[in-house]
Amino acid sequence: MYATAFLDVPPLDHANGPVTLPGSKSISNRVLLLSALCAGTTHIHDLLDSDDTRVMLQALRQLGCGVDVQGTSVSVKGLGGRTAHQDPLTLFMGNAGTAMRPLTAALAVLGGDYTLQGVPRMHERPIGDLVDGLRQMGCQVEYLGVDGYPPLRIGQPTLNIPHPIQVRGDVSSQFLTALLMALPLATAQQAITIEVVGELISKPYIDITLNLLARYGIEVQREGWERFTLPQGSQYRSPGEIHVEADASSASYFIALGALASERGIRIHGVGADSIQGDIRFMDAAQAMGAQITSGPNWLEVRRGAWPLKSIDLDCNHIPDAAMTLAVMALYANGPTTLRNIGSWRVKETDRITAMAIECRKLGATVDEGQDWIRVHPLPAGQWRAARLHTYDDHRVAMCFSLAAFNPDAVPVRLEDPGCVAKTFPDYFETLFSVTTPRPGRVPVLCIDGPTASGKGTLASRLAQALGYHYLDSGALYRLTGLAAVQAGLTLDTANENRIADLARTLPVRFDGEQIWLDQVDVSEAIRTEEAGMNASQVSALPAVRAALVELQHSFCRLPGLVADGRDMGTVIFPQAPLKVFLTAGAAERAERRHKQLISKGFSVKLEDLRADLEARDARDRNRSVAPLVPAQDALMLDNSSLSIEASVEQVLSWWQGRQPF
Ligand code: DC
Repeated sequence: MYATAFLDVPPLDHANGPVTLPGSKSISNRVLLLSALCAGTTHIHDLLDSDDTRVMLQALRQLGCGVDVQGTSVSVKGLGGRTAHQDPLTLFMGNAGTAMRPLTAALAVLGGDYTLQGVPRMHERPIGDLVDGLRQMGCQVEYLGVDGYPPLRIGQPTLNIPHPIQVRGDVSSQFLTALLMALPLATAQQAITIEVVGELISKPYIDITLNLLARYGIEVQREGWERFTLPQGSQYRSPGEIHVEADASSASYFIALGALASERGIRIHGVGADSIQGDIRFMDAAQAMGAQITSGPNWLEVRRGAWPLKSIDLDCNHIPDAAMTLAVMALYANGPTTLRNIGSWRVKETDRITAMAIECRKLGATVDEGQDWIRVHPLPAGQWRAARLHTYDDHRVAMCFSLAAFNPDAVPVRLEDPGCVAKTFPDYFETLFSVTTPRPGRVPVLCIDGPTASGKGTLASRLAQALGYHYLDSGALYRLTGLAAVQAGLTLDTANENRIADLARTLPVRFDGEQIWLDQVDVSEAIRTEEAGMNASQVSALPAVRAALVELQHSFCRLPGLVADGRDMGTVIFPQAPLKVFLTAGAAERAERRHKQLISKGFSVKLEDLRADLEARDARDRNRSVAPLVPAQDALMLDNSSLSIEASVEQVLSWWQGRQPF
């Protein structure tokens, strides 16, 4: 996940390969509750791991369900329709509407002594229509704060079910969902009919509820969208195993990706054409624009068909969230695309009509908009502008505009606050980059070099963090090679040059955050000793070893970018890097820094000795024939003798920014 201030997406060329998308939030929380209401154990696969599902899992544990979480696989041992808990219990619902509403209904029907509360924002979200529905049938539900809002206290019901039960459908479809999931527990004596008052909104979500109820043995009889009847004697039955579909709105970005940029296909795992989520109908719109889509159980495969894409004029009321993706696809179409009946965009995470219009215009496009429609004109080659795009704390705006990086003018795209995608898809960019190929030579590389103890490692890794780029510590590769050679019993001299080079070429190395693994052993500490440094210095003077490490070093140059630190980064390995920095701190300052570092680790050394060592090493490094320490000709010099690390980072970032087109 990118927690950086911005993410620069370099120009992208094409995309192919498989992606697995995170589970749908709506399905995840429904499946958890339904599994809890069954007898027996349900094995749930591909559950979404998010704040909202964690809230539900914790509540189920407190209620006495056996819950076993193994990554995205979760087993729930159900309550079997019994009141599991006699003592008063307080359940924390966070800000999860998909937990609060259905749990309120289920617990009110089951009965007990429960307090349900959440974060302050949860106490501002209405629940009155649901509580009214529950009270009609004899449930005991009390408001503990403001009438109509959580927190709530639930007691023992005296059920007396009216025919029909009425519930409003025009505020939130979650009220109806909550009743549909709770009332099968009360059908022992009679069938129960729920009547919706007012026009039901978000019908596709009720479809998800009905579908899942059927998977758990409850066949609801539906008359239009007004009346829903639960037959007498309805009984929850665990399906045993159930897979949570991937989120269909999240799939829209990868369907678009296939249509825009894939000859061989983007294979989307986790959701198929027969998905129970309304947003899957995005497929039809994408096909109308030219996407070629095939599908099977739980997968879709998408590739480019018509090119340019075909413009469309579409009522998008049935796919409000996914339709935003069409607005960006429209930039690549053969005429203006009009998306209609999208008034709800104006009241989502942000005013999405305005947001999409403003940001498309920053790219150079012409956009018209009305109260409930938007028209995006295509953006021909030659007219795309490199833009800094605002994302409005709206995950969908951020995900949509990543697709602008496929523009024909090969301009990069800057997305502000990329971390906002965490709402539904924390690893969105990682997933995108795992299947996309950049324009050749366009992954940005920033090189940092300088003499020993100049602080280049710290500076480089801080820069990588700030930009969200990968980090190559090339010295570590020489240290690893030295270690591998010593472990193989080789002396580190020219006699063994080719054998050490072979070891370097096939190093079984794995980088995992701060940790470095060599052949399943964590060697992060072992390669940092003075001895490992000496060994590295020896193997790095062998030309065959240097040549053997070139490919490995190039492999670090991946989307979205790289900060590379070490001797020949700017001269040999990445000579095209747009920015090279050479640190030039004086020997006195460097000796002092190293001294402090060693003292803090408990070593006692003399400052004068350290300084003499450093100066000797500088001389050796500058004068050696293989890869001598010299700045690249186009490197910028940074004397960081009296600069804090923060100030050095800022200086380099400002040079970097000066070379960007934004
Ligand atoms: O930066 P460091 O101390 O981890 O580097 C270890 C040794 O490897 C040091 O002697 C310099 C050498 N080296 C090199 O020759 N080329 C590089 N790109 C990086 C390090």
